[in-house]
Amino acid sequence: MRVKLKYPEFKLESYLAKREFSAPFNLCASDIETYSMNEIVQMADEQSLVPWNDLKLSYTEPMGHPLLREEISKIYGENIDREQVLCFAGAQEGIYCMAHTLLDPKDHAIIVTPCYQSLETLPSAICPTSKIQLQYKKGWGLDVEQIENAIKPNTKLLVVNFPHNPTGALITCSTQLKLVELARKHGLWIFSDEVYRFLEVNPADRLSSFASIYEKGLSLSVMSKAYGLGGLRIGWIACQDKQLLGKMNEIKHYLSICNSGPSEILSLIALKASEKIHNQNHHLLKENLKQLDSFFVQNAEWFEWVRPKGGCIAYPLFKGDVPIDKLADDLLEQFGVLILPANIYGDCSNHFRISFGRKSMPQALERLNQFIHKNKNQWGKKK
Ligand SMILES: Cc1ncc(COP(=O)(O)O)c(C=O)c1O
Repeated sequence: MRVKLKYPEFKLESYLAKREFSAPFNLCASDIETYSMNEIVQMADEQSLVPWNDLKLSYTEPMGHPLLREEISKIYGENIDREQVLCFAGAQEGIYCMAHTLLDPKDHAIIVTPCYQSLETLPSAICPTSKIQLQYKKGWGLDVEQIENAIKPNTKLLVVNFPHNPTGALITCSTQLKLVELARKHGLWIFSDEVYRFLEVNPADRLSSFASIYEKGLSLSVMSKAYGLGGLRIGWIACQDKQLLGKMNEIKHYLSICNSGPSEILSLIALKASEKIHNQNHHLLKENLKQLDSFFVQNAEWFEWVRPKGGCIAYPLFKGDVPIDKLADDLLEQFGVLILPANIYGDCSNHFRISFGRKSMPQALERLNQFIHKNKNQWGKKK
């Protein structure tokens, strides 16, 4: 008999839903600066203007528009063709379909934490899970031995996310290969959340996608993060196993059924213009990171961080004795700047998420500086 599934509150989405659309400055956004629809359409080459101009607003193919899946498959090289790509309504729906396809109550899953909440709570609602923490003292490093020690006879799935939300951590290629070897030895699936791929600070650090190097690897991606197009709600999973994708598609029939037609074509256009979009992103991230470098030098008494290696968010530590959720409330109330406290990640430390993917970051940082100046006399050092 199947257990009745219950999901805990999605703390991160609830927290943001209440604040992010009214906060004057969002200093914890998980995505890069967005584009207007006009800007995207302007990027279209002649070929992709045809499906845009001729688009009929009927239901679309459940797996995703063939042209879109074709374009997505190019990201992964020769081991992935368009039949090995399944599109979803955002990355979120992909996480849901993956967990419900791969896991049963008798299974066990290993999840690297802290993490975007559904990567942990969806598997945990289905079967027992073990959490492996990234280690702050080791520069948010991943200990592969800890993963190995957590493997049980019924372990079926390993969930990873690099570049990582919220720390910006990235493993090396050799660590990635160790994970693949380990998974192969124990017959594990690897679900790799790669929504921040292409936002590596140093592009030479970019990992291969797990789907392209491992026969049981699933690579999750989306238009939201590295393309700044979260409103399109187009995500996908690439995987060499077509049968598995077929099973996930059966779950999708109960959810979105198919993607939005206009979103599919706008995604196609943006993917074809990837080079331009990635170059703009890199310029913005580089400039913003320089400012954050100075911020952490100037405020070393109160804050420290591990400089992110990828993505557009970081997870610094506040060294004062005020709980970070209280600090976040005060900052929002006094200076209109939104940060995300660690408790939203189920983490009781004084870390918080900040982002550096938005053009408004320098103004938000200036306000954070004003807030520090105004309040620091009331702070003591956390023991
Ligand atoms: C690591 C990670 N995976 C998946 C998602 C979900 O992406 P989407 O909102 O585009 O469905 C997010 C959203 O913040 C995320 O940060």
